[in-house]
Amino acid sequence: MIDIKNLLNSDDLSKNDIYEIVDLANDIIKSPKDFSHVCEGKILGTLFFEPSTRTRLSFESAMLRLGGSVVGFSDANVSSSTKGETLQDTVKVVSQYADIIAMRHPQEGAAYLASLTADCPIINAGDGGHQHPTQTLTDVLTISQYKHTLDNHTIGIVGDLKYGRTVHSLIKIMNLFDNNKYILISPEELKLPQYVKKEVFKDNDNYDEVTNLDEVIGEIDILYMTRIQKERFFSTSQYTRLKDSYVLDMEKMNKARKDTIVLHPLPRVNEIATEVDKDPRAVYFNQVKYGMYARMALIYKLLEANNA
Ligand code: CP
Repeated sequence: MIDIKNLLNSDDLSKNDIYEIVDLANDIIKSPKDFSHVCEGKILGTLFFEPSTRTRLSFESAMLRLGGSVVGFSDANVSSSTKGETLQDTVKVVSQYADIIAMRHPQEGAAYLASLTADCPIINAGDGGHQHPTQTLTDVLTISQYKHTLDNHTIGIVGDLKYGRTVHSLIKIMNLFDNNKYILISPEELKLPQYVKKEVFKDNDNYDEVTNLDEVIGEIDILYMTRIQKERFFSTSQYTRLKDSYVLDMEKMNKARKDTIVLHPLPRVNEIATEVDKDPRAVYFNQVKYGMYARMALIYKLLEANNA
């Protein structure tokens, strides 16, 4: 049984925790009716200090599909933080109403700060360029659906590896499993930062860094495309120069293997041409749906673990 109060970082989860969540998500996918009342009387608080479509709406759909209810805001400007209320106070207050909170915030470490004062479990729904652990649960559930194992994959991660928080969480989690290798594909300026490399790879050297996607696409089992994160750039001219560094189109897909799957945490801007959407290897819209199931499993498990 999962034994954590909060989910703040992907490394809060053990390999067994991941299997438990994936197994439960699979049970929910097979038989959603069996879970449609399990959170009756429970309230999820969604505190989104930064924009979101998928994460917020999938959390809300997840709780509603478990029979619970949702309160919250999708824009910090409609909350009392505009009057100067601190994050800690806001979270303390909402935790008097809600049984569990999902929070997104632009500052790294904000979810941890929230967890210090909250009287209920906190789920990090993205904290700045740091982590996005429920996106990783989404990715892992999607990989397990299509590949039937979390071991022995060559994972190509493309785009903004500097600011892309989903990437940092994904590598950490997939490193819990056996024989996974990474090909990190990015412009020089957007390479995975050294401190992240130290943290996620430790003493392993199971990764390569390249700049050219065409040269390696044929080696990849799981192609994880990411958006260049405009909102985290300090210089507009640098963003403009780098924004179209990688565009996955059918010409590139024709060099990929038949069993390669393409994931993207979304939103996409220009990095996957829409012509790729109809290719059966493009699974990013199904990934969105698996995100809801992964969050259903997580909410249920965290409430159970905390007797909330
Ligand atoms: N993948 C993801 O986090 O999407 P949103 O920003 O729309 O929540």
